[in-house]
Amino acid sequence: MRIIKVRDYQDMSRKAANVISAQMILKPDSVLGLATGSTPLGLYEKLVEWYGKGDLDFAQVKTVNLDEYVGLSADNDQSYRYFMNKNLFSKVNIDPKNVNIPDGTNQDAEAECERYEKVIESLGGIDIQLLGIGNNGHIGFNEPAETFMMKTHRVDLTESTIEANKRFFEDVSMVPRQAYTMGIGTIMKAKKIVMVASGKTKAPIIKEAFTGEITPRVPASVLQLHQDFTLIADEEALSLM
Ligand code: F6R
Repeated sequence: MRIIKVRDYQDMSRKAANVISAQMILKPDSVLGLATGSTPLGLYEKLVEWYGKGDLDFAQVKTVNLDEYVGLSADNDQSYRYFMNKNLFSKVNIDPKNVNIPDGTNQDAEAECERYEKVIESLGGIDIQLLGIGNNGHIGFNEPAETFMMKTHRVDLTESTIEANKRFFEDVSMVPRQAYTMGIGTIMKAKKIVMVASGKTKAPIIKEAFTGEITPRVPASVLQLHQDFTLIADEEALSLM
């Protein structure tokens, strides 16, 4: 694993956007694995800015997002599809047919998870997967558990994740309790993985995940085993390393 230590959030966003741009320039039909959450917002802004300047072209790019809440449709402003449309897809020349996100409205979990795995397979796998990290070490919505769940699956969100996500909802009772997420195996099969992390609150989990033992109780720790994993984190997030 490679750790790129950056000054602050802005610096992290620019460097991570540079890594994704390099991928798109070298392979214009790249399959980008994308994440939501607060951390990637700055890097999506950079990608949009560089697209505006004519430096990036999304015409052939394909995307697969990590996860989606069960029960939320695309027009719900808390769905991850809505987030991606708002912050990236509506602002660049990506073909909507090339965008893939688990369908939160499909209540048939088995069918939806199988469909999503097949989509990723049919694209030839993920060239570069972007990740954030939850305060409990989750990646995608792979929550701490006794075993690693390998494939796309439906998951019950933990109280700590519901707590962390409630800031986006009017009331904690409106936070969905389940999500579809790529599995650990789905993520680990990506050719490259880039994680972004910023701020003091992430420091304890960054230390635990990347200097501690590899265990499903800290899902991100598995990334220590990936052959091309880069953590781009600011000084605060790395302050306990
Ligand atoms: C989002 C996702 C989550 C977030 C994580 C960190 O698609 O899969 O694992 O990356 O919860 O979220 P932020 O960036 O808001 O701290």
